[in-house]
Amino acid sequence: MGSNPTLSAILIPGADTIIKKARQVPLVLAGFGHVGKAFFGILQGKDESLRKRYGLALKLQAILKTDGGFISDSGITPEDFPDRPGQNTARSPLWKPGQTIESVLRTVKPGVFVECTPSNIQTGEPGLGHLRAALKAGWHVVTANKGPLAVDFKGLRGLARRNHLALKYGAAAAAALPTLDVGLYSLAGAEIQAIEGILNGTTNYILTRLGEGTAYEEALKEAQAKGIAEHNPALDVEGWDTAVKLLLIANSILGLDLTLQDIKVEGITRISPELLERTKQEGKALKLFGRMSYAAGRWKAEVSPAAIDRSHPLFGVSGTNKGITFLTDTMGSVTVTGGKSDPRGAAAALLKDIIHIFAPLP
Ligand code: HSE
Repeated sequence: MGSNPTLSAILIPGADTIIKKARQVPLVLAGFGHVGKAFFGILQGKDESLRKRYGLALKLQAILKTDGGFISDSGITPEDFPDRPGQNTARSPLWKPGQTIESVLRTVKPGVFVECTPSNIQTGEPGLGHLRAALKAGWHVVTANKGPLAVDFKGLRGLARRNHLALKYGAAAAAALPTLDVGLYSLAGAEIQAIEGILNGTTNYILTRLGEGTAYEEALKEAQAKGIAEHNPALDVEGWDTAVKLLLIANSILGLDLTLQDIKVEGITRISPELLERTKQEGKALKLFGRMSYAAGRWKAEVSPAAIDRSHPLFGVSGTNKGITFLTDTMGSVTVTGGKSDPRGAAAALLKDIIHIFAPLP
């Protein structure tokens, strides 16, 4: 983290500690889809515990959509929406049509910009422009949107560093499954020799349902109904969502400088009924893996389906759950599983990253 003295850390241990005055942190949220709405809900539900446990008073001062924004100096609450949050926007007294992110970032005292607009891994937009504007205007950034990082990981990190701001993207790197935190913190000092992960809940869900005899289209619809498939589900099933997560993990933890072009990507769309049947007969499970392997002095990055047997640490990871295994020199093989893909889990990962900006681990 940078050296902004006004944002230095306070950590108050114990949920029942009385905080006389919690630190006010302005938030601006861009994108009010599944994850944005879940984030709004979590902020309300956890307001008191955030004040008590971390001394943080997170004040959501703007929610921006493509055609305008909800703006409030005192903080947006569910009462500000006559209907369900996000519906019939014009009926909210806070709604300002045409309001832009740039004007909000200029007028609100900087805190944390929370990016939840849909991922576009070709252009990175609109998130890329949002993140650049936020970092230039002195805002810390947490993002669930992978697009900007897929397109300009290095540039965004450089911009954040030069401006002494945090750029946190755990919510984009498998969200509720801790990947970056484990790799960067828990495995500090170990040499990571290989990484293997089930990083996409949609494809893992589809593969699990296919194994149970459900048709592909049906299984995809079910994943969409859960709110976890990407806006364009081809990103999930063709392996690109896994590839971006692998890129974020590899670049952050292994210190590489991968772009998407460096990753060989195959999704689950070419899995035949015969392969499914054979896998079942052999007592194996099909998984879509993101893998980093090291040989002959080079890292290789790839995304591809694989049939694994019971002895594999990720064999039991089914449905929308995910998992990651790190092979290390000193700590052996370390596996984390769970952290299912789910809008509330992604929102919780955004909150976790915000907490770590202001209340770093002791
Ligand atoms: N589409 C993703 C998944 C969720 O299915 O895991 C966001 O990363």
